[in-house]
Amino acid sequence: MSRQFGADFLWGAATASYQIEGATREDGRGPSIWDTFSATPGKVVDGHTGAVAADHYHRMPADVAMMRELGLGAYRFSLAWPRIQPTGAGAVERRGLDFYSRLVDELLAAGIEPIVTMYHWDLPQPLEDAGGWPARDTAQRFGDYAEIVVDALGDRVRRWTTLNEPWCSAFLGYGSGVHAPGRTEPAAALAAVHHLNLGHGLAGRVVRETLGERGALSLTLNLHVVRPDSDSAEDRDAVRQIDAVANRSFLGPVLEGRYPADLLEDTAAVTDWGFVRDGDLEITHTGLDVLGVNYYSTQRVRHAQPGAPRSRADGHGASAYSPWVGADDVEFLPLPGPHTAMGWNIDPSGMTELLVGLARTYPDVPLMITENGAAFDDVVSADGAVHDPRRVAYLHDHIEAVGLAMDAGADVRGYLLWSLMDNFEWAHGYHKRFGIVRIDYDTQARIWKDSAAWYRQLVTTGQLPP
Ligand code: NOJ
Repeated sequence: MSRQFGADFLWGAATASYQIEGATREDGRGPSIWDTFSATPGKVVDGHTGAVAADHYHRMPADVAMMRELGLGAYRFSLAWPRIQPTGAGAVERRGLDFYSRLVDELLAAGIEPIVTMYHWDLPQPLEDAGGWPARDTAQRFGDYAEIVVDALGDRVRRWTTLNEPWCSAFLGYGSGVHAPGRTEPAAALAAVHHLNLGHGLAGRVVRETLGERGALSLTLNLHVVRPDSDSAEDRDAVRQIDAVANRSFLGPVLEGRYPADLLEDTAAVTDWGFVRDGDLEITHTGLDVLGVNYYSTQRVRHAQPGAPRSRADGHGASAYSPWVGADDVEFLPLPGPHTAMGWNIDPSGMTELLVGLARTYPDVPLMITENGAAFDDVVSADGAVHDPRRVAYLHDHIEAVGLAMDAGADVRGYLLWSLMDNFEWAHGYHKRFGIVRIDYDTQARIWKDSAAWYRQLVTTGQLPP
């Protein structure tokens, strides 16, 4: 049976500044931690950097025309902080801000709703030099930057997301070190968690105070769907530990105004959380007009057996946690296939489980899928087309899973596909392609994959085929 989504369900696609823009030295843009990290040998596969990427900075009007052609109702993109405030503080670089102002105008003229992410990982390098997210001052600077961008774009942009996946910024950036700035300091990672939450709160205040009812505040999280290997008390406790450090460490301060007691206990050997000052949790406790959910895959854990390997090659698993959650006792297990090119298992049921679980815990918080999609090793056929049936199947099954969650009562307002186009996939460089539009990096040609035509049909009718 096909499934009909309502006319008010928002369909769109997502990207992020460093992953698509290129032009990293133009119009006064300052360096970000990803410029530094990707220029450091050994950090990104084959030494790829975002210097050119999909050259979106120079091709923006044509890219918006393409979005219109695709029938998108919304476009989620991020602002590069170092384009707007090259040093992360002080003077505004008008040329950088103007780029986003023009982008917003183009979108509105095309009938596409802009959804702005203030921060998608490209921290101005001078702020990292001054301590980065583990330093409290970064949160203050982020609040100032939020004022600049909300003042400049708030007349036309209603939907604001403060941070994208702060889990990655904290744990991959300062824990496992597989993302910029590449530090491996457990205590710093936990301080980063708090200062990201504080930054969210300060920026959220700006959105609420400046835009009032006209604004919609959100935060995008990559919540982990973690399953126990068995029903044993130890395995269930392994799930609890990961849920605390990966999910409730953000949901708690933002939606409940507190850090979970078990998180503080589990991490007591690493930090006393003394960086949480009086009044901070009132700032972080913004509530949300919509919670952004990025979903790709599930994870399975068990209580660690002596000598068991604790990290997955992609750095997303235990290597990000092992120094602090209960010392060393959570083991991430390989999951059966099928897998995407990222090595992530394909499990649409996790999407339903996640959304239904959130709806139960936070019944008053509407949800939006702010990312979902898949990388596969695309092949260009002799006729120039890219037939990507596995991506179509992945998208179909996950959108169906969203529909099932809605049937079960989850208030899901929209779906934003990751990604509009192939782009710089962080430590994997350009090797992993998530786009429904292929980028030929030699010519910068945009080539619609079969999934793009499929998605166009879906978003223009709201009807998901069987
Ligand atoms: C999460 C991130 O927000 C995005 O930048 C990344 O490319 C995708 N997921 C895929 O890994």
